[in-house]
Amino acid sequence: MTMPTSPLLASPGVFEVLTATAGHAPDALMALVHELAASLGRAIDAKDPHTLAHSEEVAEVANFLATVLGLPRDVVACIHVAGHLHDIGKIGVPDAVLGKPGSLSPDEWKKMKAHPAIGAEILLPLTCFAQTGIVEMVQAHHERFDGSGYPLGLCGQRIPLGARIISVADSLSAMLQARPYRPAMGFAEAGREIMRCGGSQFDPDVVAAFAAVAGDVYRLFGSCRGGSLMP
Ligand SMILES: [Fe+2]
Ligand SMILES: [Fe+2]
Repeated sequence: MTMPTSPLLASPGVFEVLTATAGHAPDALMALVHELAASLGRAIDAKDPHTLAHSEEVAEVANFLATVLGLPRDVVACIHVAGHLHDIGKIGVPDAVLGKPGSLSPDEWKKMKAHPAIGAEILLPLTCFAQTGIVEMVQAHHERFDGSGYPLGLCGQRIPLGARIISVADSLSAMLQARPYRPAMGFAEAGREIMRCGGSQFDPDVVAAFAAVAGDVYRLFGSCRGGSLMP
């Protein structure tokens, strides 16, 4: 009697794959970390029916803006990963709050506003994420440049630069997506809103970088959405 070939046994073993990956470190290892982050980002987006490919858009646009700002390649890679994971704390927000079509009550807002801190808690066991600032970026992605954000009310340079970049990408992506209570904005209108909030909500240097390459950012959003983006 011949044993059926199990698809699991036919594929390479996990140690084999990891050894091959580690053999090409650090680039291949970073690629693996990026793939895991992108996958977890999709898990978050699948939970929230209003956000489509939000995590991926934020990651790709933050990655691009960080590159435009001239940051070192390894820092850009960390910002990219943090972009994919920025909303991972929404796993800890009740579905009834996350999917509520109307405005949130004060208690519901409190639960929603806990997601950056929950996200940091989820990622903290990953030593490399803690040591490279990815955890801090996730925790600070709703801080505002003027200190009026959350969870800590940090202002200016006290907010990690990666979080200041992700904040611009996050707001752009959110404005370009329809919500139950408003239609999607066009890119030009969303861009004007980003520019208007430079120095208050957003780091003016990040806003200046965005303004300099707005046409490329428009095309990047378009490619994330298969070309369907309102100008
Ligand atoms: Fe990515
Ligand atoms: Fe968020």
